[in-house]
Amino acid sequence: MGDGMLTGEGRRWRRVSSSSGQSLNQVTVRSRLLSSFDSRPVYSQPSTMGDPEKRAPEPAVPFGLPMRSNHFIYDKAYTPLNHGSYGAFPAAVRDYRIQLQDQIEARPDPVIRNTLPSLLEQARTAVAPLLGVPTHEVVFVPNATTAVNTVLRNLAFDEGDVIVHFSTAYGACEKTIDYVCETTPLQSTSVTLEYPMEDAEVVQKFIERVENVYQGGRKVKIAMFDTVLTFPGVRMPWEALVKACKTWGILSLIDGGFWI
Ligand SMILES: Cc1ncc(COP(=O)(O)O)c(C=O)c1O
Repeated sequence: MGDGMLTGEGRRWRRVSSSSGQSLNQVTVRSRLLSSFDSRPVYSQPSTMGDPEKRAPEPAVPFGLPMRSNHFIYDKAYTPLNHGSYGAFPAAVRDYRIQLQDQIEARPDPVIRNTLPSLLEQARTAVAPLLGVPTHEVVFVPNATTAVNTVLRNLAFDEGDVIVHFSTAYGACEKTIDYVCETTPLQSTSVTLEYPMEDAEVVQKFIERVENVYQGGRKVKIAMFDTVLTFPGVRMPWEALVKACKTWGILSLIDGGFWI
């Protein structure tokens, strides 16, 4: 994607340049993401999924080069241009992870039995407001693919049930849909997206497809869509898609791989 990312400025997709290449790490990608087609405010950093109108506080260290040099351990000569595969977490997170591993190795039983449950609870409590859900509904899984598998493989599907998704879905998630369709009565239908295109077109295509399924006598049980696409790295109008799903009583499975 060259030296920048694609982002939705108003309604057209454009490239955002970066002096350091930092713009393509997850944090800055989020900072650059603009509002959905109904002109919601620009997010300065991950906002709440539960209330996307809310603006998160400005970070103490500005995004861009200061964020990169203060919080990440990228080699100075390395410019990451790929936001979609192998990310990097902040140095403080790396350090804490090592510290926890050391604690576990030093005293395995007490740390795993007594300390970890309360740390896990703290982490769930911290994440819950970002998702707009109660703490008891937050479950950590190893990665986004596992999350999508967990949801899709734990639903019961009947004859005539359909899942609607987009052609831009992450490959492993699309394969999970294929698997579930091969092993249950679920059927899938994929809405083709070809960028550049308007957010409103994305929503319109989705609505048309759902209507089409109902007209054919089948029922859309669930829809899967991303918050930010893998390729191209654009923000999806996921709030509007959720809203549309709610009007039909369709479950929304949001792949928030690049969101929080
Ligand atoms: C939109 C999207 N969903 C899911 C994934 C998979 O993420 P994970 O490796 O955490 O399973 C990716 C990876 O790039 C992605 O871009």
